[in-house]
Amino acid sequence: MADVFDQLIDTTLGPKNAVVQDLVARGQLYDRVATDIDGRMVKVDGKWLADFASCNYLGLDLNDKVIRAVEPGLKKWGTHPSWARLACSPVLYEELEQKLAAVLGTEDCLVLPTISLIAIGLIPALTNKKSIIFADKFVHKVNHDGCRLARDMGATLKSFRHDELADLEAQLQQAGDYETRLIVIDGVLSVTGRTPNLPDITALARKYDAILYIDDAHGFGVIGERPTAERPYGHRGNGVVRHFDLGYDNIIYVAGMSKAYSSLAAFIACPTKIKTLLKCNVTSYIVSGPVPVASLITSLVGLEVNDDEGDALRDRLFGYTADIIDAYRARGIRTDNDNLFPIVSAYVGAAETVLRGGQLLFDEGIYVTLQAYPLVPQDKGVLRATPTAANTQKEVQHLIDAMERTHHALRQEGFALPGSSAAESSN
Ligand SMILES: Cc1ncc(COP(=O)(O)O)c(C=O)c1O
Repeated sequence: MADVFDQLIDTTLGPKNAVVQDLVARGQLYDRVATDIDGRMVKVDGKWLADFASCNYLGLDLNDKVIRAVEPGLKKWGTHPSWARLACSPVLYEELEQKLAAVLGTEDCLVLPTISLIAIGLIPALTNKKSIIFADKFVHKVNHDGCRLARDMGATLKSFRHDELADLEAQLQQAGDYETRLIVIDGVLSVTGRTPNLPDITALARKYDAILYIDDAHGFGVIGERPTAERPYGHRGNGVVRHFDLGYDNIIYVAGMSKAYSSLAAFIACPTKIKTLLKCNVTSYIVSGPVPVASLITSLVGLEVNDDEGDALRDRLFGYTADIIDAYRARGIRTDNDNLFPIVSAYVGAAETVLRGGQLLFDEGIYVTLQAYPLVPQDKGVLRATPTAANTQKEVQHLIDAMERTHHALRQEGFALPGSSAAESSN
């Protein structure tokens, strides 16, 4: 009998994604295990690090009110509903959907466990053989996967250059006689923190009767309605559509609780008449397992905390972000963050430089996300810091000083660092 696993490794798993495998093998800092945590300090490989790698933007993973609510909820509901949603759902789901719709200002919402499950269930559900999809080239991988699945099920799939509306419009004009046109974009890019030109994309979608699918994984909970000079993130954290005051006509808004709300849940915001039909068409609603009870509760209580003190938490987050960006600029550390979103990437270039920079930061007691080729284009590797409201000012200062020393050490070791002008990037 052949060893089918060896065969699989030789023929398929081994060669597949070889560049990622190589990166993970060379980078000592991928795939680590944390053994302890104290506030936003985390112990990895026996070393305490100030954590700037999580996306717990509002710091609710450590919030007392949120944590205290879990045990009574578990006593009432048990740990897990374990029904597929089509069979039955605890009323917590309805409460969450209503609360989310109220915060967003949408007619309705449908909750599922993750955005990944939504992407692979919803994009194929919205399309058929008479549909055409236009995906922004920089859209997150889970959305690419959802689009490819839809294509395999008969839809036509096209992509357009990131945020290049002339390209998108030309393709919309040339598209033949399709019954559904779906444009797929991210609300905030996960490497740069940038938002696309949403007002113009929305206008195009409306002009050509297309549906605009927005994945706002990072924006929800951070940016929201009525931005002002004092509060550039806006208010209430109700997402990128409210931030640009666009209304939800033609828009399917997808986001999740796993970043700003530190909870495993995600949702589709849409009109009720669409929701009703999605229940019979989205595979992950029909057959996938549900959100654990603890996450339904932390999502609900997190939204209460957002009502009471979300804007104050975002003020703190904004302050940290502005401090990091100002300091990077003053110290010649290249970042192209132009909207003060709390994703601050320091561009260091080649994968080798990212890996060495990450190690130097680790030695300094700082943990950041290492985005290197092939996760980003060849020379666009970054050391990505995502501050959260649960970091301290001292940790933020530590990050800034350590990043400056790291850049200095990288130059001394002969690594070529990009200049300090803005750079293009993809996620
Ligand atoms: C833009 C974007 N979409 C989707 C995801 C995946 O979300 P989930 O973990 O809910 O599947 C991420 C995760 O980082 C993301 O950045």
